[in-house]
Amino acid sequence: MNGAIRPLVAGNWKMHGSLARARALAAALRRAADGVAAALLVCPPAIHIPAVAEVLAGSAIALGGQDCHPAAEGAHTGDISAPMLRDAGASYVILGHSERRSQHQESSALVRAKAEAALAAGLRPILCLGESEAERAAGRAEEVVARQLAESLPEGFAAGGGVIAYEPVWAIGSGRTPSAAEIAAMHGFLRRQLRAGWGEAGAAVPILYGGSVKPGNAGAILALPEVGGALVGGASLLAEDFLAIARAAPGG
Ligand code: PGA
Repeated sequence: MNGAIRPLVAGNWKMHGSLARARALAAALRRAADGVAAALLVCPPAIHIPAVAEVLAGSAIALGGQDCHPAAEGAHTGDISAPMLRDAGASYVILGHSERRSQHQESSALVRAKAEAALAAGLRPILCLGESEAERAAGRAEEVVARQLAESLPEGFAAGGGVIAYEPVWAIGSGRTPSAAEIAAMHGFLRRQLRAGWGEAGAAVPILYGGSVKPGNAGAILALPEVGGALVGGASLLAEDFLAIARAAPGG
């Protein structure tokens, strides 16, 4: 943990839940969030953002999207733009999640264009990076994330409040995580890359860990050097689990 900065605990609700469940989850978080020291963010399905924004209005819990189109508007059936997310109440957007990269063939160049659109709309991009199991087994994890970082990060990312999320693909939704030493090593590596490429601005970019973060492992993960918070999938769908993770953050 970078002691100077408040940890960010972000929930990625993915394509789960009904409108009623989204409202109920947001209301439960709102009721309990007051004593939590970590900054909280929830990223519901886009169609639920306005309702969740209503429930969270006036609270300290931030709202984000899970993806956006690189254009501000246009003939793009089924897509949602960064200004639309902002308009609906979002202040963050997750980009380049491995499920987008694998299920929608998103390249790092596209992710970069989306991050530019997010920044232009005043949204803070959360840029996801991570190696596959085969890449780690081949000793290529650092090489893979370094390339994703170099190819996905736009100009102005740090100044615009951008956040990195290191999410090993094989840890997402699997109940498996890298060892504490492996997480610390990758976060340290990413910090050195950020510093080398982007100087002082790069030194300040928060680096979240994501992939099977649960109440039982959150304390150990969030205490590691250069881990600035967590991006939580499955465990963010239960208010108690999400809050337990947030409370496990240093200072929480
Ligand atoms: P998980 O998902 O916590 O369910 O592993 C993390 C993510 O996809 O961001």
